[in-house]
Amino acid sequence: MDGTARQRAGTDFPGRARVGARTLRTDRWWLQPLVTVAVLGIFIAYTGVRIFMRDYYWVDEYNYLTPLFSPCLSDSCVPGSAHLGTPLPELPFFIPLPFLIFPILAGFRATCYYYRKAYYRSFWLSPPACAVAEPHKAYSGETRFPLIVQNAHRYFFYAASLLLLINSYDVLLAFFPDTGFGFGLGSLLLLVNVTMLWGYSLSCHSCRHITGGRLKHFSKHPLRYKAWTILSKLNARHMQFAWISLVSVMLTDVYILAVSAGWISDLRIIG
Ligand code: FES
Repeated sequence: MDGTARQRAGTDFPGRARVGARTLRTDRWWLQPLVTVAVLGIFIAYTGVRIFMRDYYWVDEYNYLTPLFSPCLSDSCVPGSAHLGTPLPELPFFIPLPFLIFPILAGFRATCYYYRKAYYRSFWLSPPACAVAEPHKAYSGETRFPLIVQNAHRYFFYAASLLLLINSYDVLLAFFPDTGFGFGLGSLLLLVNVTMLWGYSLSCHSCRHITGGRLKHFSKHPLRYKAWTILSKLNARHMQFAWISLVSVMLTDVYILAVSAGWISDLRIIG
């Protein structure tokens, strides 16, 4: 097969049956891509606005720091919110406070094997569903720029894992405000969120490959085999972790925003 034929797509591909209709499916195949566009669209719009806000990401009284701004690293961070110090100077208003971490978080999700499937289908209709012809006439896969950047996923995984360790430390602090041990709904939301983020990261395809890939004999690496077996079980749930953690990040941020802005009070359970 020559290169031109290889790059032809959809119903034009040599050997494909000639079917005039775009699809013969009669079920609601469009529902899943539609829901994906709606949920991802809301998340992208929300975080796009949110990262440019300079307020309401930190609740000093209870040590709540939203995961979208963690770690806060500049002199522009509100007092108390910079757990790791402020190696960066004041940032001008047009640079978001999380300008270093947000590209990592966005890159980790954007290059994720599951999300790729989801947004290739829903945003690019490539194809929108099984047995539904795509509108594109050519196909080059992920062999050229910009999609070749998807191969950097494992590096985003390493960087995002470091941020996740910091997020876990944030949760610990949220259970130990200045008055000693205590927690409220915000602490619990942060805990659930970080648990879902761990689930998302540990179920990552790259994580599974790093753990058990490129081995010739599992029998010579029993610990890696055991870890790979556990991660493989999580990996089967990667799609669920992807969606739940996406929603949990947004809900946690909305809650901290609302408490920080004084719209609601934190529901204290202990302390
Ligand atoms: S494959 Fe989804 S986070 Fe790595």
